[in-house]
Amino acid sequence: MIRPAERGDGPAIAALEKQAFGSDAWSDDLLAEGLSGEIPGTLYLVAVEAGVLGYAAASLFADVAELQRIAVAVTHRRTGIASALLERVEEEARLRYSERLLLEVREGNAGALAFYARRGFTEVNRRPRYYADGTTAIVLERRLTDDVSDGGS
Ligand SMILES: CC(C)(COP(=O)(O)OP(=O)(O)OC[C@H]1O[C@@H](n2cnc3c(N)ncnc32)[C@H](O)[C@@H]1OP(=O)(O)O)[C@@H](O)C(=O)NCCC(=O)NCCS
Repeated sequence: MIRPAERGDGPAIAALEKQAFGSDAWSDDLLAEGLSGEIPGTLYLVAVEAGVLGYAAASLFADVAELQRIAVAVTHRRTGIASALLERVEEEARLRYSERLLLEVREGNAGALAFYARRGFTEVNRRPRYYADGTTAIVLERRLTDDVSDGGS
């Protein structure tokens, strides 16, 4: 089940964040702020079965939405959880009239790059030395308007 994240999901998301992103992990304070519901345009979703198995964070503003985070527990990858989270983010972005969904990914993150390619993202830019350790960020984009045929109802 995909549902909006609540404050109580903080510890589970923080654990996944550390598992997935290591030294790039968001601090507990930053996560708590995101989950507080007080930052306009911020969407946090969790994928839940017995516990939180994955989450996504996005910033939804006008024509361009940004996927800031998506991660799935190591034990549950390749079971469609990130796809379900991403679909929901795209749905919410369309409801807010976003035309494009953008994100940054580490150049060497082959798994994520394969995932995004499969989900219809294409490279639009590169940001050299974007990450603290000097790694290049690849900027990917997916248009959200092309595959909406009936205008949504
Ligand atoms: C990237 C990530 C979110 C994908 O989550 P997931 O739940 O495993 O993805 P899905 O099961 O929905 O995958 C859908 C399709 O994407 C592709 N894909 C996903 N992970 C892949 C991988 N590691 N290698 C190759 N292709 C992959 C496959 O085509 C897959 O379909 P298949 O399993 O039927 O072959 C997950 O690997 C993760 O949490 N990684 C660490 C955090 C991270 O790097 N996040 C992105 C930062 S920008």
